[in-house]
Amino acid sequence: MKGQEAVHGSGKRLKCAKNVEQEQENEEEEGGEEEEEEEGSELPSKPGNFYYPMVPSAFVVSDALEPDFPIIYVNTVFENFTGYRADEVLGRNCRFLQYRDPRAQRRHPLVDPVVVSEIRRCLEEGFEFQGELLNFRKDGTPLVNRLRLAPIHDDDGTVTHIIGIQVFSEANIDLSRVSVSGF
Ligand SMILES: Cc1cc2nc3c(=O)[nH]c(=O)nc-3n(C[C@H](O)[C@H](O)[C@H](O)COP(=O)(O)O)c2cc1C
Repeated sequence: MKGQEAVHGSGKRLKCAKNVEQEQENEEEEGGEEEEEEEGSELPSKPGNFYYPMVPSAFVVSDALEPDFPIIYVNTVFENFTGYRADEVLGRNCRFLQYRDPRAQRRHPLVDPVVVSEIRRCLEEGFEFQGELLNFRKDGTPLVNRLRLAPIHDDDGTVTHIIGIQVFSEANIDLSRVSVSGF
């Protein structure tokens, strides 16, 4: 099945597909843009079907059978990159990374709402997601998150868990230009 791809305002690509790897293979067969994508990328130099990230990946697992996809596992890389300890985030939805301050109750205005809606749509429809969005460490430092979400199915095809793989890098943005009331 052909997934959908959108180029949004900042010119970045989002993928929401039943099977993102299949999408990538199709692109390559079609003489697609793989060379362009690999240039300057920490993600994947990929002999065969395997990914060899240059940096250790953060990942989290969420329960897809509970409302709002609560986190049930985060690895140490996630804790180190985000500054949040596992016990602070287990049971919560991962959207807190879009808040600049842990006490904030809403997304930072520089977090692209188009990407967030695309994540929501992929989760609702049981599709994989790949895209890039702005996140924040617990101390407020902005991070670029190249996020991949992959649904895990049981034998009946029900999505039971979502794995989120995050590749974080420094975000060179000037947050002082944004005026935000309440963070
Ligand atoms: C397993 C999993 C991992 C996620 N990881 C992130 C993440 O690292 N950063 C982020 O901003 N959103 C992440 N999300 C997406 C948010 O949790 C949320 O689904 C998204 O913001 C859309 O929903 P909302 O509009 O209700 O916030 C993740 C979701 C899941 C299920």
